[in-house]
Amino acid sequence: MLPPILANLRIPVVASPMFIVSGPELVIAQCKAGIVGSFPALNAREKDGEPVQLEAWLTRISEELDRHNQANPDRPAAPFAVNQIVHRSNARLERDIEICHRHKVPIWITSLGARPEVNAAAHDCGGIALHDIINNTFAKKAIEKGADGLIAVAAGAGGHAGPQSPFALIQEIREWFDGPLLLSGAIATGRAVLAAQVMGADLAYIGSPFIATEEANAQPDYKRMIVDSGAMDIVTTSLFTGVSGNYLAQSIKNSGLDPDNLDRADASSMNFGMTSVKAWSQIWGAGQGIGAVHDVVPAGALVDRLAGEYAAAKAAVAAM
Ligand SMILES: Cc1cc2nc3c(=O)[nH]c(=O)nc-3n(C[C@H](O)[C@H](O)[C@H](O)COP(=O)(O)O)c2cc1C
Repeated sequence: MLPPILANLRIPVVASPMFIVSGPELVIAQCKAGIVGSFPALNAREKDGEPVQLEAWLTRISEELDRHNQANPDRPAAPFAVNQIVHRSNARLERDIEICHRHKVPIWITSLGARPEVNAAAHDCGGIALHDIINNTFAKKAIEKGADGLIAVAAGAGGHAGPQSPFALIQEIREWFDGPLLLSGAIATGRAVLAAQVMGADLAYIGSPFIATEEANAQPDYKRMIVDSGAMDIVTTSLFTGVSGNYLAQSIKNSGLDPDNLDRADASSMNFGMTSVKAWSQIWGAGQGIGAVHDVVPAGALVDRLAGEYAAAKAAVAAM
């Protein structure tokens, strides 16, 4: 059984948080279109002495979604999620947890480390906590530490992808876990959303296609490269953050590196502080599903496409 907060979406999709790319414009558009929108707390940054940006973003998102719901009681917005990078290089974690708790963030997504106190903070303000994992061992640990649901990050995902086939990952987790399970990795069509459910997931977790939307905080060349690229244009490397991730080969070439001959990084160099902003603003992340992206469109139009394809795929399967 899905918790009510995830059960009443227009289609079973959570838009994944993307470093730099996901901000309030994108989140608001995703939620208004009927899917969960999300952003990494670390995307909200202020200079020393400036008001705390995360406070401003949360206030803006809540107010705009409230206004939308009052004006459109027949099609209310989906809830939003905030992603916390639970890693020692994230010096803001405690502060950001306090802010999200005070703003009663409804869905908390944790990555790169499962910590009971983050899950406790989510529960204490009435929220749920979803933790992203790349294998069954991490999945068990996340649930032991109090997460309500899991995000299985399979091979081909944008950002820090796992190495496992989605079939392997979902079937191993479903042997012992019947709670909320999301699947991520190269899901870019409504048909693939249905496939994720048939495989045993409850919802699809989709990132890269939303880079090619008008509301995404990405340079026009990045959006265009998503439109122009397919699975063969994606390179997997640990070089840029210390964790294995998927990137657009052309952006690596444009930075003067050879995508076919990249050094490896060791995990101790993992860093999610300011230096990684520089890396990610030049080296562009994307998953293998982007062959399905043919235009830069408003996020609402992308959700409309997914919803239309999802309905058509369901009808096609029913007629089989
Ligand atoms: C550019 C980019 C940035 C990302 N940044 C984050 C992040 O900050 N936190 C996080 O939990 N996941 C991040 N991810 C991973 C996504 O949350 C998600 O797992 C992935 O996008 C799903 O695969 P897909 O892109 O093939 O749909 C990022 C992905 C991309 C493409």
